[in-house]
Amino acid sequence: MLKISAGSSDLGALRAPALALLLEQGASVPALGTLDPSIVSAVQRVIARRDFRGSKDETLHLLGAENGVERLLLVGLGKVQDRAASLKRGAAIAARRANQTGVGRMAIYAGDVTAEDAEAIAVGAVAGSWELKEFQTPPPEDEQREPLAEVIVLAANAAAAEQGIGRGRAIGEGHSLARRLGMLPGNICTPEYLAETAREIADRHGMKLTVLGRAEMEREGMGSFLSVAQGTPQDPKLIAMEYRGGGDKPPVALVGKGLCFDSGGISIKPAQGMEFMKFDMCGAAGVLGAMDAIGRLKLPVNVVGLVGSTTNMPSGTAVKPGDVVQASNGKFIEIINTDAEGRLVLADVLAYAKRFSPAAVIDAATLTGACVIALGHSATGVMGTDEALVQEVLAAGKRASEPGWPLPLWDDYKPLIKSDVADIKNSGGRPAGTITAALFLKEFAEGYPWVHLDIAGTAYSESDLGTLPAGPTGVPVGTFVEFVRGRAG
Ligand code: BES
Ligand code: MN
Ligand code: ZN
Repeated sequence: MLKISAGSSDLGALRAPALALLLEQGASVPALGTLDPSIVSAVQRVIARRDFRGSKDETLHLLGAENGVERLLLVGLGKVQDRAASLKRGAAIAARRANQTGVGRMAIYAGDVTAEDAEAIAVGAVAGSWELKEFQTPPPEDEQREPLAEVIVLAANAAAAEQGIGRGRAIGEGHSLARRLGMLPGNICTPEYLAETAREIADRHGMKLTVLGRAEMEREGMGSFLSVAQGTPQDPKLIAMEYRGGGDKPPVALVGKGLCFDSGGISIKPAQGMEFMKFDMCGAAGVLGAMDAIGRLKLPVNVVGLVGSTTNMPSGTAVKPGDVVQASNGKFIEIINTDAEGRLVLADVLAYAKRFSPAAVIDAATLTGACVIALGHSATGVMGTDEALVQEVLAAGKRASEPGWPLPLWDDYKPLIKSDVADIKNSGGRPAGTITAALFLKEFAEGYPWVHLDIAGTAYSESDLGTLPAGPTGVPVGTFVEFVRGRAG
């Protein structure tokens, strides 16, 4: 776990293997105070010569002094519009670079740092230092680099910065937990494993935990969820975590799609890139990461975390195209495509959410490839039954630097999922695939205001992003946490 603390902004007194300066594009050379004059002069010269311009994601590694600040890393923030987002990004780049260089301890300077700034820097530093190494044999000792273990956030008001750092660490740890779960392969991160992880989080924070397996779900009449699970011998899990921080007030519910692997089932996916479908549980990972962060932050809100987890496999017992199943709210579903499995799982989880009489329900799911076509990797698709709640979730996503974008959840699209034999069918084909998936979910999200996040394009990256390596991004942990924080007032 990365250690982060606030440090004096008197740079002259600083002794560290590395100092990262997060600098805005076009800004004048910062007043570096009592920092070693030879280093100040070097910074002034590289900026004057335009060897470093401060453009977004730009980095320049400079030699520091023998003592004091040994290395200097200049990190460009570009033209800053959203300071929190820029600081997270800059701190992530700095931390990742420090980790790659083998610098165990790094100070981060970003001018006048408020508590909010310190929080953003902490979130970024945790994100940038995250990695999953447990499946790689370590190199021989003399080739090993020192991982980044400690970050010092330089701030004039250290007490305020410490407060922000504490919050940023909590959120960062939630992100890291979610990213680890996402990165773990499907043979290790199974529904059982997610349930055990939920148990560990619940125990740590004194939350109530309920886990339903196949037998319990049969008793609940969850024929939709179970139809996906019938192709695998693994026990499916419906996980419910109850965090009580808000007295008697109705809870908010966070719901996540937890497909530990999605082969498509009988409607099997092409082999190319199928390995990425281990990430089909990133919604569930987001719920677990957010519940951990909410527990760490001790937010004064009641929150229920719900996860529907299984694995979508073809087999002799698997559900087939044309089959009709009945969900726990009584609705009959014709399964057109067994690869549209996430909505089948979520149907019963959303119906289950009703028993908590929630004030609001937000689900996150890597639900449709169509969302990646519509919005790419830059925005989460946002749809819901309550316009005020949609706006609230969009604002939370913005604060978390996890932008969302609304898509119209109009009834005009409903004929696309009309079935000839059942109440509804699980695929509307290619047109408006993200919207028809959400309209399907809406049939089961009854009795409460609801918002759906399609994170298919934002929860993970197939390539290195510079700030983060290929793999899970931590989305939607930040959005969930900010939403709950917003409800805390
Ligand atoms: N998990 C996939 C969606 C997905 C695709 C997520 C690509 C991330 C990247 C989902 O279960 C799925 O297969 N959806 C189908 C729905 C279709 C059959 C109606 C899709 O998007 O093709
Ligand atoms: Mn699928
Ligand atoms: Zn899926």
